[in-house]
Formats: sequence, C-alpha cells, structure tokens
Amino acid sequence: MSLNQQIESWLSSRKKTFQFINRPFITLAFAQSWDGSITTSKGEAAALSCFASNQLTHQLRSLHEGILVGIETVLSDDPQLTVREWVGNNPQPIVLDSRLRMPLDSKLHQHPDKKCWVLTVANDKLSQQSKKTDLEIIQVSQQSSDFIPLLPAMRVLRERGIESLMVEGGAKVITEFLKLGLADAIVMTVAPKLIGGYKAVGDLEVEDISSSPNISPIYYEKLDEDLIVWGDLKYSEPDK
Ligand SMILES: NC(=O)c1ccc[n+]([C@@H]2O[C@H](COP(=O)([O-])OP(=O)(O)OC[C@H]3O[C@@H](n4cnc5c(N)ncnc54)[C@H](OP(=O)(O)O)[C@@H]3O)[C@@H](O)[C@H]2O)c1
Repeated sequence: MSLNQQIESWLSSRKKTFQFINRPFITLAFAQSWDGSITTSKGEAAALSCFASNQLTHQLRSLHEGILVGIETVLSDDPQLTVREWVGNNPQPIVLDSRLRMPLDSKLHQHPDKKCWVLTVANDKLSQQSKKTDLEIIQVSQQSSDFIPLLPAMRVLRERGIESLMVEGGAKVITEFLKLGLADAIVMTVAPKLIGGYKAVGDLEVEDISSSPNISPIYYEKLDEDLIVWGDLKYSEPDK
C-alpha cells in the first residue's frame, strides 16, 4: 500500500469509530522543520514541504468536509484551501476571525465552489460585513473576545454538517486545539530543515510531561525528502 493509501485508510477507520456528536472529527495537519518551526518568523509565508508532501496535504483536504485556519494565516499566506494537486472535492473553508480582519482581496473570497465561513464573536463590524455576499459570517458568541470559543464553534460546525475538520494552522490555532484536547488525529510533514523560527506548538500549559498530549499509535514513512509522521492524539484527561 502506498503512503497515500495508508493514510487514507487510517483516517477512514478513525472517522468511522469517532463517537462524539457535538463536534466534528478533527485532524491537525501541518508542515514543520526538524526543530518544529512552521515558518521562519511569525507572519512570514514559507514553503517547507516537497511536491509529494504538498500533494498529500491536498489529498488530506479532500478527505475532510471542512478546513480551518486562523486569520493570521490568511493575512500572511493568502491560502486558497482548495484541492488542486489531488483529485477530490474541496472542503468547506473556515476562518477564525474575531475582529473580522479578512482582507477584501483575499483568495478565499474567490473560492471556486464554496462561500468561505468566517467564525467570529460579537463585533462592531458585524452588520456591515454580513452584507458582503462572498463570505458567510457566523457569530459563535454574543461576547466580544480575542479568541473564538472553540467548543461552541465546533458545535456550530457539526450542526452545519461538518463531520470531519482539517485544521491547517497556524501555531496559535494548533496550540488552542491541543490545549482543549480537541484534536483527534495529527499528520505532520517534517521537512529536512533546521529553521529556528516560529514554532508549530506554543505553550500548552502542561504541568508535567505525563499530562501532555501524545501520539499513539504513531506511524511514519519517508516521502521523497520529507518524513511524514501521523497518528492518534491522546490526552491524559477524558476526551471532550
Ligand atoms: N507550515 C505550515 O503548515 C503552516 C500552516 C499554516 C500557517 N503557517 C504559518 O503560521 C503563521 C500564522 O500563525 P499564527 O500562529 O501567527 O496565527 P494563526 O494561528 O493563523 O491565527 C491566529 C489568530 O486567529 C484568531 N483566533 C480566533 N479565535 C482563535 C482561537 N480560538 N484560537 C486561536 N486563534 C484564534 C486570532 O486573531 P483575532 O483575535 O484577530 O481573531 C489569532 O490571533 C504564518 O506565518 C503562516 O505562514 C504555517
């Protein structure tokens, strides 16, 4: 079985056994250097992975119903979040953006077949932005706050039919999902580089090593020059 087939079959079996009905099955998928950097410095876009790994990322997108990034990733990378290097459906693009900073000329405004969902909180710009027809603004909380509360946000996504969600980054978003024990699976592309840059995972506020999330079982295989590492995420507390 090729690496792509192995990952597809593992994901499919994980999704089948997923039991929670108040949120989607959530996969963290991102590329990092050997020292854990996702980019050179915060706010910079950096292409870390080789072409085959990039294809795998597009395959992973096609295996999820939604794909989510933080607004800082939109501002720095201007991603399309579509499936272009693989054959499959585009997932629903979703952005966490509490202050509605989505630039009007971002590529997500021109998605080929989906209106991008922008999750936000109570916000002065809300009624003005809601009039724009090329985005769907979804207010997750009535309270204004810096971060969108993820548990209610995930409930909203599930209610809207998103049964599986790929979280592509950036670091703040990855960190928040891990802190809350909300990610079920992880697929990391490890590029053979040492960058000393902006790290994928920030402070998880773990008190000791035994309470940190771990990957078990873990699988790995080389894909051209990159190493692909994947597995189930386990938490010491009961899953939420
Ligand atoms: N190598 C890779 O695979 C990869 C993938 C993606 C991104 N990146 C890189 O990552 C960098 C961006 O990452 P970043 O850490 O600066 O930002 P980010 O995670 O992309 O976005 C974080 C922002 O999202 C908003 N947000 C709203 N609710 C949130 C919540 N519950 N949890 C977390 N964030 C929430 C916040 O902005 P508001 O307060 O304004 O809402 C927050 O500052 C870029 O340089 C990009 O190139 C790399």
